[in-house]
This record gives sequence, C-alpha cells and structure tokens, in this order.
Amino acid sequence: MFNFDYFTPTKVVFGRETELRVGELVKQQNKSKALIHYGGGSVVRSGLLDRVKKSLDAQRIEYVELGGVVPNPRLSLVYEGIELAKRECVDFILAVGGGSAIDSAKAIGYGVANEGDVWDFYEHTRTASACLPIGVVLTIAATGSEMSNGSVITKDKGMVKRAYDDDLARPVFAIMNPELTMTLPDYQTACGCTDILMHTMERYFTSGGNMEVTDSIAEALMRTVIKNARILRNDPQDYDARAEIMWAGSLSHNGLTGCGNDGGDFATHMLEHEIGGMFDVAHGAGLAAVWGSWARYVLGDCLPRFHRFAVNVMGIAEEGSAEEIARKGIARMEDFYRSIGMPTTLKELGISPTQEQMAEMARGCAAACGGSQGSAKVLYEEDMLRIYHMANDR
Ligand code: NZQ
Ligand code: ZN
Repeated sequence: MFNFDYFTPTKVVFGRETELRVGELVKQQNKSKALIHYGGGSVVRSGLLDRVKKSLDAQRIEYVELGGVVPNPRLSLVYEGIELAKRECVDFILAVGGGSAIDSAKAIGYGVANEGDVWDFYEHTRTASACLPIGVVLTIAATGSEMSNGSVITKDKGMVKRAYDDDLARPVFAIMNPELTMTLPDYQTACGCTDILMHTMERYFTSGGNMEVTDSIAEALMRTVIKNARILRNDPQDYDARAEIMWAGSLSHNGLTGCGNDGGDFATHMLEHEIGGMFDVAHGAGLAAVWGSWARYVLGDCLPRFHRFAVNVMGIAEEGSAEEIARKGIARMEDFYRSIGMPTTLKELGISPTQEQMAEMARGCAAACGGSQGSAKVLYEEDMLRIYHMANDR
C-alpha cells in the first residue's frame, strides 16, 4: 500500500430538480459575475439553460454567456472565453454540460487567473498558480470532470489533444440531476459508461501497491456500471439506472478508486487522446476501440490483476489456467462493449489510419507521456505503435 493524498473539495448536490438551486450555490461563493459556459445547444433545446438563468436571476447574480464548446474542446474557444471573462470582470465560471464544457471552463479559469499563454500548462512547460472557481451543472455522466482535477483541451492547429491536471481546478460544486441525462443519444450514454469503466480500470490494472478496500470499491463500481448500462440500453428513461451511472462517474475519477495504488496505468487514455486529436472521435468510443488490444498486450506483465478482474467483475468461472481465465475476462468485456454499441477495433470506430498516421500517433503519445506510460506494463513508443497496429488489424 502506498501513501496517498485524497482531496475532493467539490460539494455535490445530487438528485431531481437540483439545478434549480444553482443560484443559491453561486451566491454562497460570494462572487460578483459568472460566465455561463456550455456546448453546442443541447442545454438550450432542453430548457436547462433557461432554468439555470432564472435561478441566477432570482439571486440577482450577474452573468455573461459563452456557448459553442465542441467535444474535444478547442483552444480557440478557450482564448475567446478568457478575453470575454477579463473584459466583463467575471470572477466565477459556471459550466453547464459535459466534460467538454467543464474542461473548457477550467482552461478559461486558468487563463484568467494566470499571466501568459494558457496552452503552456497543457504542454507542461509551467504550472498554474491559480484558477477562477468553477461550478458545474452536469448533463452527461462520463468524464468525472465535475469532481476531477483534469482538463483536456485540443489545440486547433495540428489538432493536438493534451491534458493538464491540477487540484486548483477541482469544481467548488457539482449539481447532478440524473434526469438531465435522459435526453442523451444512446451512443453518448454508452460512451459515458465506457469512460467511467475506464477511469476505474486505469487505476485497477497496476503492478504496484493495492488496498483491499480500494479494489473492492473499484470492482463494485465496475459491476454496477455494467449492470446499469445494460438497463439503459433497453430503457434510457430509467431514473435509478441513470442515478447509479451518474454517481459512479464521479467516484471513478475523483481519486477514490486509486487510493493506495501507484497512481494507475492510464496508457489507454493516452493512446485515445492521440486518436481523439487526429480523428475527432468521441472519447469513450476511442477508449473502447483500443482497450482490448492494450489488455492483451500487457496481460503477461499484470496477470494476477487480470485474473482477479475476470472472476470478480466479469463473472468468469475459475476453470483453467490463470491466463485462460484472464483472456476470457477481456473477451467478455469486449462482448459487453459491443452489446452497448461500442467499438472494439479501430475499424468499428470508423477510422482506418495509415501506417504513417499510426506512427505519428505513437510519436505524439510517447511525447505527451514524457517518453513512457503505464503501470500494468511500462509502454514506450514502439509498444504504443504495436497496440495501434493490433487495434487496427483486428
Ligand atoms: O454540446 P452539446 O450540444 O451539449 O452536446 C453534447 C455533445 O455533443 C452532448 N450532450 C451532453 N449532454 C447532453 C447531450 N445531448 C443531449 N442531452 C444531454 N443531456 O453529448 C456530446 C458529448 O458531450 P461532451 O461534453 O463532449 O462529453 P464528455 O462528457 O464525454 O466529455 C468528453 C471530453 O472530456 C475529456 C475527453 O477527452 C473529451 O475531450 N475528458 C476529460 C476528463 C477530465 N476532465 O477529468 C477525463 C476524461 O478521461 C476525458 O479525457
Ligand atoms: Zn476518460
């Protein structure tokens, strides 16, 4: 067991109609003006944005708005948001939407509170010293950004997708009404469930340090997400299933499922970020498309964990060798992905990268990781390239 810091300062307000409390929650922050930041229009169409504004009006909170965040949120809109926030003397940012709106809000928060180019943080050439406070009204259960310290931004020029993690940007509050996720297309619901599973698996498949309580929480979380993702496939309006998934999304990425381990693996995420940058695919789908290839590539170096996962999460019977059981667990996970409409190869993801593009992604991935990535197995550029090939050739 390793030492750990567990820091989750986000106030969670969970349940039906909780978005009506947003004005009250912003007011508690004692700030004078908010920037409401949102995506491509789902919050306008659903009427959520109007409800949020009414709640702010009722508390006499001033605000300006900036919509237009796209999945794989772009740096250009972040710059626009920084300009707007400075011009309007904004001191609070309210993200209404999913991971993309939240991550863009965090980037704007860094940009307003620090001198210089905000992209430096994502290039890891310097670290932030402050961030404007961020509040969230969540509309999709997926990234866990509503409680996480992460922000992932794509630079328009060259479509370079990079992450910056800093506790300064953990939201001060997150409003989570599961009903708000009922308007999601099935594909986005499935992408979200995949991302939630991946955030737990990234911390579970490690070669160093584990706590029994952490492992048990992680396994319960994964079983719960798999069960409820199947329920939502048949009945997207099931409130309880939406609620289970939504809370699991936050718990999977607020640090809880990593306490006592060595920080996790996160190679699948790094591999996906290159695919997401180059091909602009949905994050969850990109993860599903490479996970099986990654798992088979690293299996031999992390067999006890894959064996345990197969038995405790995927329900594989203890018959045969540990490796046979582990391989069945990976195959059953891929069956699950397909059952909810997720891809398990690059072809199923709808992309067919050239040899040169795969080499470029492997180069970019290795560079973004500082040379190597992984805990289940440490991966270098040549390993990353092999995994892209495996995912492409299947
Ligand atoms: O833009 P709108 O119109 O709102 O539509 C969105 C978007 O098209 C739509 N949507 C969201 N809520 C909806 C809805 N449509 C109907 N009804 C609703 N209630 O869904 C689409 C996807 O939204 P997005 O915010 O992009 O999804 P997600 O939450 O999956 O965020 C993905 C981004 O987060 C990053 C990913 O890489 C990707 O860029 N990540 C952020 C992390 C973090 N900050 O900790 C960790 C993750 O691993 C991840 O990398
Ligand atoms: Zn993710």
